[in-house]
Amino acid sequence: MHGGSVVNLIAGRSCPLAYRYGAAALARAPTRPVETLYLVGGLYGNLFALDCIQALAEAEPAPVSLCFNGDFNWFNVDDEGFRAINQVVLRHHATLGNVEFEFASAQDAAGCGCAYPATVEQGVVERSNRIHAQLKNTARRHPHILAQLAALPLFARYQIGAIRIGVVHGDADSLAGWQFDGAELDRPANQSRIAAAFAAAEVDIFASSHTCLPALRQFGLTHGQGVVVNNGAAGLPNFRGRRSGLLTRISRHVSPHAPLYGSQLGEVRIDALPIDYDGAAWQRHFLSLWPPGSDAHTSYFGRITDGPQYVPSQAHGPSRQSPGQRRPVSGSGAASGTVPIR
Ligand SMILES: [Fe+2]
Repeated sequence: MHGGSVVNLIAGRSCPLAYRYGAAALARAPTRPVETLYLVGGLYGNLFALDCIQALAEAEPAPVSLCFNGDFNWFNVDDEGFRAINQVVLRHHATLGNVEFEFASAQDAAGCGCAYPATVEQGVVERSNRIHAQLKNTARRHPHILAQLAALPLFARYQIGAIRIGVVHGDADSLAGWQFDGAELDRPANQSRIAAAFAAAEVDIFASSHTCLPALRQFGLTHGQGVVVNNGAAGLPNFRGRRSGLLTRISRHVSPHAPLYGSQLGEVRIDALPIDYDGAAWQRHFLSLWPPGSDAHTSYFGRITDGPQYVPSQAHGPSRQSPGQRRPVSGSGAASGTVPIR
């Protein structure tokens, strides 16, 4: 269903043309009104994290809408794991990640479809392409699931009260875009483009994933405030020395679960909720699929055991200005109104 351009692609580095939708497409997407929204990007086949997410949702006082915004598959190259992850995810809202998009590509020219930037070393890219090839072999044995995945959208649109939310996998323009990486959000040269994306998409919040590292930034726009929130990874550790995954919770109800950090926009609270899954059990399961010397072990085992070299202050922003200090986005840098909670 989703045929990517295969001309001049470098596997794992390029962004296929079919990934591009443009921020204005989000303004035309059907809007789902919800009370509480969990954005679960980057589950990466972690069934233990999925169990934990379901338990978090069940403990909420108001109805929760779960949206798995892409890359819910990755390490689950076993048939049982592939079936189990997708059966649960497909009972909820979901949008495609590059991992799922590339299941439907006839050729493998885009590799994993990650569109890795130059800062990511070539060995990581090549291993990701081989992991994806193995996962795709598993996926081919599940045509019924593949048909359902192929019908998923590239993005989604929600509303909580007056707050409009655009849900993407990569960034405002592309399925595998890296513009919602924390460093990119802080780059002065990107500020006018970010402001334009909010206007074109007609949203107050962008929720993303894909970069595998979380970020939360609040921007002063010409007409009000905008927030970009990237949950990093639901199925992998996000911070040095901490093994939990992370999801984005957006709601006008107070969270019954302690967030790591968060932000407020009107009546809506945007929180980063830790997913404290059974790390020892997940580690044993991972090793049964990806023993030492395997591609996923080489690329990810260090992160699974120790977390990435990333700390919460990098996720919630380099500076914390009071609301009165925020300025409209005009090349002056993001106005960070986010608050670390613990
Ligand atoms: Fe991705």
